[in-house]
Amino acid sequence: TALIFFMIVLAYLGGSISSAVLISRLYRLPDPRVHGSGNPGATNVLRTGNRSAAVWVLLLDILKGTLPVYLGWYLEISPLYLAFIGMAACIGHMFPLFFHFRGGKAVATALGTLLPLGMDMAGLMMLTWLVCLGLFGYSSLASLLTALVAPLYVYFIKPEYTLSVSLLSCLIILRHHGNISRLYHRQEKPIIDRFKRPD
Ligand code: G3P
Repeated sequence: TALIFFMIVLAYLGGSISSAVLISRLYRLPDPRVHGSGNPGATNVLRTGNRSAAVWVLLLDILKGTLPVYLGWYLEISPLYLAFIGMAACIGHMFPLFFHFRGGKAVATALGTLLPLGMDMAGLMMLTWLVCLGLFGYSSLASLLTALVAPLYVYFIKPEYTLSVSLLSCLIILRHHGNISRLYHRQEKPIIDRFKRPD
């Protein structure tokens, strides 16, 4: 149990490292917490127009979820505690210790936690996200729809994680409250050009 506790704390601390803020500093881009949507995530870093910075943020945020869960899986920690470790990484990203507890939405980090559990589930989630993005053009809407169907996928593919993935989906949807209201008022910014309305 000491090991599990240590892993949960480690996952939370790792999740607390905001790659969006750090990569933006490195690339001398505007701080994502004050620019665009104000969200420290890959989508918002992409809004600066710097694709490589956005890709780095995406990869590092995914890694923050993957590393601790993979380590736990390697150490043969049981699914229940693996779920706690994954949740801790996402909660670290959402409420980071090092950044005044104001973090992101943990979409990439949540995906990262699913990777060690098998590519079938993670692959299905990525596919869903990409199809929704292709259909509607909004990163936030793609994340919201993926979070909505995630519990269903997990129920059929890895039922032992149904509760934890559902909880995570709820948290992710709650973190998108600003996006939901912008989508509703048609003020959300698409990330694919062909969806942009002429101003
Ligand atoms: O994954 C985050 C995305 O769903 C929304 O990002 O910057 O549009 O709030 P953003």
